[in-house]
Amino acid sequence: MGHTRCLHTKLTRKYFQRGYALYGFFFFMVAFFAIGTMPFMTNAKASSVRPPANATTNALPDQNSADPQKKQSGGFVPGKTLGNRSQTDLWRQLRRNIKGTVSIPDKKAGVLIQSAGDSWMKFRNNDLYKYSSWGILGMIGALLLFLLVRGRIRIDNGPANIKIERFSKFERTGHWLNAAAFIVLAITGLIMLYGRYLLIPLLGGEVFAMLAGWGKFAHNWGGFVFMLGIVWIFFAWVKDNLLSKDDFGWIIKAGGLFSKGVHPPTRKFNFGEKVVFWVAILGGIAVSVTGLALILPFQIQLLPGDLGIHSMQFAQTWHTIVGVIMIVVIIAHIYLGTVGMQGSFKNMITGQADRNWALQHHSLWVEELENKDEKQGAADARQPAE
Ligand code: HEM
Repeated sequence: MGHTRCLHTKLTRKYFQRGYALYGFFFFMVAFFAIGTMPFMTNAKASSVRPPANATTNALPDQNSADPQKKQSGGFVPGKTLGNRSQTDLWRQLRRNIKGTVSIPDKKAGVLIQSAGDSWMKFRNNDLYKYSSWGILGMIGALLLFLLVRGRIRIDNGPANIKIERFSKFERTGHWLNAAAFIVLAITGLIMLYGRYLLIPLLGGEVFAMLAGWGKFAHNWGGFVFMLGIVWIFFAWVKDNLLSKDDFGWIIKAGGLFSKGVHPPTRKFNFGEKVVFWVAILGGIAVSVTGLALILPFQIQLLPGDLGIHSMQFAQTWHTIVGVIMIVVIIAHIYLGTVGMQGSFKNMITGQADRNWALQHHSLWVEELENKDEKQGAADARQPAE
């Protein structure tokens, strides 16, 4: 035993002395790392971004090749234009209102591009603007020409100075309420339509901003007064504005507007006045509904489904088209109610019409009134005196 331990000690000392243990340790470590990292080395080679030598690539095709298939391979088309590998399909879908899903509460955000907005803006800033100007200026021009050629429509036999009740207080209050609201709406509406192009260069941005701000306030609230006025005149005058057979005679003679001394017989309102009435009522309903949809966007939606923004564009377009048609018609109405026809304005202020004016323009109505009066007189005469 003592011999063996002695030999072991001797050997160990000998190797350590020579540094063999240290060399062995390093050798072991290098071998361990070499074997351990071998699998990673293989993987790294496999996931290289470089394609294998035999892979087909998406690189641009050979533009100079005589073979058209080679020229167009990989989804590319000749001439360096975008082929079916481009994003055009995606963009096309986006321009066609493709809707994605979003997790935020506003689901409208799922539509990235609302392309109808482009067409709407183009229509609003070009066509609507242009045709509205033509309509309004055209009507003013036509009325000026009419005044020049035809002159003021006078009472042929002069005033009789005998008064007939034409409009009650109820009728006149409804008319002027409606007229006042309409004038405010028309002016403020036109400021909104033309302000940006006409008024900003004239007044400057700041003055325009103040005007437009107040205008919008007046427009929104004036709308409710106008709605009340529309309901009012509807109940006051609907029974006198239903079509009757004397309207045909009026239409055939164009109301005698273009020939002096021609006065087709009519009842309380002639066909032209009935047109004004129905434009006011039906147009009034249309601008009220579309106007309310604009004041309460997304709460009042005129189009079905989830077409919220589209619905607002629809409301804005029709609100302006109908509004402008009404303005054009009312310009003609205001002309005939003031400068264009002698005696007319007084009727609506005092409620009393001159008998000669009434006979000239509404002979059947005068006849009706006088027959009624006669019958009433006869009935009164038959009543025994108390
Ligand atoms: C400053 C503006 C206005 C003036 C000076 C005016 C003037 C008149 C006059 C004088 C009459 C009576 C005609 C007659 O005796 O037969 C009348 C009637 C009438 N007005 Fe006006 N008006 C104005 C605004 C409006 C507006 C804005 C509306 C509707 C939106 C309107 C709707 C009517 C209707 C429906 C009648 C009864 C039928 C008719 O005469 O056409 N008016 N207006």
